Amino acid sequence: MANNILKGKRGIIFGALNEKSIAWKVAELAHAEGAEFVLTNAPIAMRMGEINNLAEKTNSQVIAADATSDEDLENLIEQSMEILGGKIDFILHSIGMSPNVRKGKHYTELNYKFYSQSLDISATSLHKVLAISMKKDAISEWGSVLALTYIGAQRIFPDYNDMADAKSLLESISRSFGYHYGIKNKVRVNTISQSPTATTAGEGIKGFNEFINFSDQMSPLGNATAEACAEYCISMFSDYTRYVTMQNLFHDGGFSSTGVTQQVVDKFAE
Ligand SMILES: NC(=O)c1ccc[n+]([C@@H]2O[C@H](COP(=O)([O-])OP(=O)(O)OC[C@H]3O[C@@H](n4cnc5c(N)ncnc54)[C@H](O)[C@@H]3O)[C@@H](O)[C@H]2O)c1
Repeated sequence: MANNILKGKRGIIFGALNEKSIAWKVAELAHAEGAEFVLTNAPIAMRMGEINNLAEKTNSQVIAADATSDEDLENLIEQSMEILGGKIDFILHSIGMSPNVRKGKHYTELNYKFYSQSLDISATSLHKVLAISMKKDAISEWGSVLALTYIGAQRIFPDYNDMADAKSLLESISRSFGYHYGIKNKVRVNTISQSPTATTAGEGIKGFNEFINFSDQMSPLGNATAEACAEYCISMFSDYTRYVTMQNLFHDGGFSSTGVTQQVVDKFAE
């Protein structure tokens, strides 16, 4: 089914932890579509070692980088250009983590040190990637940077906790930086707002299994899968979407425009 739509493109893919990761699916498809890229993840995630299987499969190199560290990101961007032999055409930011969620802190009683870590890892890291890329003039004209987000940025889903705040910030950074990078170098920046997806990050949210079923029944097309998300990402990295920038793009089977579905109403029939 691949059509080589990323042939000749060079990329950096953040966040492939294991086979379930959305970034993993993106890497597999980007490879099938002819791209060359560097894989990266936090040093601690590397220790699990699964990313090496993906690297082998996609003929790519792996560079460890903590997305909150300027030094790591500078090294990553420099080395990626060296390995790939030129400027970068696409970047996937597929990073999310909340210590408050992990430690079961309620939103009304957040630990503020954890809170700033949530924002730093899940949102400010996008700003750093873009700022360092701009400083190094590392992204080609018409290059495409994508970050993954969730509708919890616009609407309250109580167990999404402080990740909602992190995603709001992430989407705002994408819009603001998209403006500046567009003017400076025709680089586009967007977020894709994905359906709940069974991955390590997703399953970390309390009540995830019930929630994923609810979301499925509230979406006319059903929940979008990680594979379908990868397809959308590839189209956003391709030249077919060159004038799309500063957008939050819903990839959710229609969930974001649905008030209620008959399926859900029927559950309340007595
Ligand atoms: N799974 C869902 O339901 C869902 C829905 C919408 C959006 N998203 C978003 O999609 C993205 C990818 O998540 P996923 O569902 O594939 O889960 P995942 O757990 O496979 O990926 C999250 C990644 O973030 C990485 N990460 C954490 N801290 C980091 C750091 N300091 N530096 C670098 N990397 C770090 C992890 O190692 C991991 O690879 C996240 O932004 C997530 O919020 C997920």
